[in-house]
Amino acid sequence: MYILGGTSAKTIAGNLANALQEPLLQVIYKRFPDDEFYVRVMDQIEGEDVILVQTAYPDPKIVELLIMQDAVHDAGAKKITVVLPYFGYSRQDKKFEEGEAVSARAIAQHVSLHADAIITVDPHKEYILKFFTVPTYCCSAVLSLARYLKEKNIDFVLAPDKGAKDRAKEAASLINCDYDYLEKTRIDGTTVRITPKSLNASGKHVAIIDDIISTGGTMANSIRELKKQGAKTVSVACTHGLFVGNALERLRKACDGVVCANTLENEVSTISVASEVAKAL
Ligand code: R5P
Repeated sequence: MYILGGTSAKTIAGNLANALQEPLLQVIYKRFPDDEFYVRVMDQIEGEDVILVQTAYPDPKIVELLIMQDAVHDAGAKKITVVLPYFGYSRQDKKFEEGEAVSARAIAQHVSLHADAIITVDPHKEYILKFFTVPTYCCSAVLSLARYLKEKNIDFVLAPDKGAKDRAKEAASLINCDYDYLEKTRIDGTTVRITPKSLNASGKHVAIIDDIISTGGTMANSIRELKKQGAKTVSVACTHGLFVGNALERLRKACDGVVCANTLENEVSTISVASEVAKAL
């Protein structure tokens, strides 16, 4: 078995190789002068199992993934398992308006072409796994995040919307504290409205937990609500830290701590999901 770490998931691939005690596949990748991607597999992989790890975000990383899959398939790999630590486009999981694409399905179908199995981490909604046409499994960073938050003496967990309620419940159960959720209405890509709600968060060390932080708008509004209601400290945690624009800087100023898993690599992605992925494998 070989582990192939794509350019967007080198840390997880390295961690995974260590956890499974399997070698990293030797590959050459580069970009041509016109920025097109090139990959060449250097090891002999005919008849071998290959685990290809690549976060499917942003768009160029999806193209890299498809090209790496082609190389590994053509080199005769017996079984290709694609690990998508973050599955980009997963939030466009249905037609919200007539005429729209179901983008998550479009990406899933293409990734399925040269894959025998797929593993992803904390998909935005679990039903999107059905968009892949090969067996697809998921694992979660929530318990790893919760263990970290427990050490930070968090004693209340908040979900910023109903969709994140189960994550908050799971984290709170490990920490052994209360949880609640907010009602969020998305106005557009950058604007959300939080319905005021009385939370039992006064004097508490609160962690807000979500699957994705993108613009940071959801978290910023939730932090404001918690501070209004007298929370002592507020930290934010998520699996996939996209941190568009200056979102990370804004959130760091607005709260007491920001942490995320390493499905996307950035300066606060300190929680490794490698052991969860290794278990799923
Ligand atoms: C949406 O349902 C997701 O779970 C996140 O709450 C959302 O993607 C966060 O986006 P933003 O950081 O832009 O508010």
